[in-house]
Amino acid sequence: MAVNIKSPREIELMRESCRILSGVFDEMAQALKPGMTTKDVDILGESLIRKAGCIPNFKNYNGYPASICVSVNDEVVHGIPNKKHVIKEGDIVSLDAGLIYKGYHSDMARTFGVGNISKEAQLLIERTKQSFFEGIKMAKAGNHLFDISNAIDDYISQFGYGIVKDLVGHGIGTKLHEDPQIPNFRQKRRGVLLQPGMTLAIEPMINEGGWQVVFLDDDWTVVTEDGSLSAHYENTILITDGEPEIMTLGKY
Ligand code: MF3
Ligand code: CO
Repeated sequence: MAVNIKSPREIELMRESCRILSGVFDEMAQALKPGMTTKDVDILGESLIRKAGCIPNFKNYNGYPASICVSVNDEVVHGIPNKKHVIKEGDIVSLDAGLIYKGYHSDMARTFGVGNISKEAQLLIERTKQSFFEGIKMAKAGNHLFDISNAIDDYISQFGYGIVKDLVGHGIGTKLHEDPQIPNFRQKRRGVLLQPGMTLAIEPMINEGGWQVVFLDDDWTVVTEDGSLSAHYENTILITDGEPEIMTLGKY
């Protein structure tokens, strides 16, 4: 496994790609309202990406038919936007999107509550986000990759939540998915040595119930096996000599 180390010029391009993507997320988050369809979210996100002069990297990726993954409630990731799926008050909606700017990819995800949501749903969203921050405390040159995985697991396990195992984070750069794979659960080995210039998409996917998921017949949508809620939080980050740089941090 070879992990790319980005040059200063490449890092600049990654930063810009990520900055544009965070802006797209800010606008999608503000627009997200009960009554919208999941397809409306996709249309909005794709038009924002294209207006910025960028390319939606998910579209047609291994045949994925949209630009934004919109996953509602028990849908974990890769929900396919659908003009018949109306978002309603009380839903939790995970948006996952990425784009290409001058050949460089960015990737991020957030779960949003629509209107009033249950206390349990709110806690799941907050703890999923926090697990990312626990993970990246370990994202320092000299540490090993799976220190991140273990930190996410240690934080999440205290709540009895299920950590999705069938999907993982990844390196990112001139491709959406580069080495290494980044599991969100405890590993027996320590993984690659982290080095400045690595760009990684770290993305815990956390279920309120069990960790098991089912892949639906549409070839994409991943749902929790037990029907429990699921949340997702992802940023593209840069390993530096000091603290990691979160390149996709916008308002949310
Ligand atoms: N953010 C996801 C990932 O990291 C989504 C990509 S799959 C796609 O892997 F097909 F929807 F693009
Ligand atoms: Co990703």
